[in-house]
Amino acid sequence: MGAQIGIDLNHAAELLSGGKLVAIPTETVYGLAANGLDSTAVAGIFAAKNRPTFDPLILHVGSIEQAKTLCSQWPAAAEILANAFWPGPLTLVLPKAPQVPDLVTSDNPTVAIRMPNNPLSLSLIRSLPFPLAAPSANPFGYVSPTCAQHVADQLGDRIDYILDGGGCDIGIESTIVSVSNENQVTVLRLGGLDLEALSKVLGYPVKESLNMHSNPQAPGQLDQHYSPNSAMLHMGDFSIDAILKDLQTRGHDGLGFLWFSPQQAQNFIEQFDGQTQQALTDSPLKHYYLSNNHSDREAAMNLFGTLRQFDKDGCKRIYFSWAPDGGLGRAINDRLKRASSKVVH
Ligand code: TXA
Ligand code: MG
Repeated sequence: MGAQIGIDLNHAAELLSGGKLVAIPTETVYGLAANGLDSTAVAGIFAAKNRPTFDPLILHVGSIEQAKTLCSQWPAAAEILANAFWPGPLTLVLPKAPQVPDLVTSDNPTVAIRMPNNPLSLSLIRSLPFPLAAPSANPFGYVSPTCAQHVADQLGDRIDYILDGGGCDIGIESTIVSVSNENQVTVLRLGGLDLEALSKVLGYPVKESLNMHSNPQAPGQLDQHYSPNSAMLHMGDFSIDAILKDLQTRGHDGLGFLWFSPQQAQNFIEQFDGQTQQALTDSPLKHYYLSNNHSDREAAMNLFGTLRQFDKDGCKRIYFSWAPDGGLGRAINDRLKRASSKVVH
């Protein structure tokens, strides 16, 4: 029996007040929420996701006032960023207040806080006397969910309720920055808020500390993350002959291509002779496009749903191309890179 999906805010609030788990919609991805000040409830999140406790959680708040009760410092840069981008896809990492359980922060002296931009979840959080700890509502290491059904598919039997806010507008997790007492802003994870927008509001370029390697201090930065079950191969790492040979030896079953847009696919395919073009466009071969309009926002919104689709379609190997680098393209490429760093068998 799976968790019920619905829009009953009172029911969600009752469950959360009783220490239970509820999946909540946000503009980025769905979160798996529990009372963020209750260690026992928070332990339930780690168990349901199979998530190691060294990977800290984000606290979701309904106001700047509430955020201030969760951290011991609120530097001027935090005020500027919260005013400019909350509610929205930006997470602030700040020195933690004593009331935040160590399990939430994985014993780090800092806490991650954000105000999500979803009307249902904002109403829910504002009706509760505590913040909601919520990681993305997927089993650890798998692709994040961008609709209620994605959550039900994988965690339905482990949680109590799924609040249905429809599809996520942004579709990629929040941008995470740390803010020091000296107002230094450092990007820890690329995400739904592009860095140009951040720098513009601050008036100076932000520093970046993006680690592609396994680092227990910032586990969201683990190499292998956001992975579908299909192996993802970057097209640029292979010659066209190697790709054609792969098509020949494996047949078309379980093989596919992921493109940023039809335009990108066309530009790539057009450079080859007729026979090669034919081989690449043969009808049983699957082609997926992140955006029909060559738009970074649309591509971000579709990214995780498309990765899930590979698995539903039984794809074993996907050749993919990078998104153009501007706007959300960097965050999309970051997720593609992590999804593809899985060992290929
Ligand atoms: O958009 C989002 O951020 C979504 C929605 C549900 O809000 N949440 C999300 O949570 O992506 P999660 O747990 O999948 O990723 C959050 C990452 C952690 O993996 C960790 O790297 C980072 O946030 N994080 C949390 N607390 C931190 C801290 N104190 N210092 C540094 N990084 C932290
Ligand atoms: Mg996650």
